[in-house]
Amino acid sequence: MVITRKIEFSASHVCRNPEMSEPENQALFGLEANPRGHGHNYVVEVSVRGDPDAVTGMVMDLKELQEILNREVVGPYDHRFLNYETPPFDRVIPTAENIAHDIWRRVAPCVGNPVRGLYAVRVRETPDLYVDYFGETPCSA
Ligand code: NI
Repeated sequence: MVITRKIEFSASHVCRNPEMSEPENQALFGLEANPRGHGHNYVVEVSVRGDPDAVTGMVMDLKELQEILNREVVGPYDHRFLNYETPPFDRVIPTAENIAHDIWRRVAPCVGNPVRGLYAVRVRETPDLYVDYFGETPCSA
């Protein structure tokens, strides 16, 4: 079974590659490349896969998952200018794809155990764009 918890945060970013020229960045990223940055209201869905526990009937206590997401994602991301305040985005372009990968890296070790593991991270940057990441699960679930 797969259970999913949704969280939201607001953050600013700039998407540009410092190895590229200004015209190249403009062509590739458009307004996203403006160095002043701009904000998005991100919606993140984190899914955990496993079997319901025989005693609790739950794959995972959703309060515990909420606490993990607050600590590992909302804390480092909310109301931040990601390029300047939230590593690794001082050196990694903070696209929705790279944000999904970073959230996976932060959350997977906290939810994995021998009978369950992180299954998916979905990052919505706008209502009509989202990215799904299915990374390596650090357990057999
Ligand atoms: Ni943007």
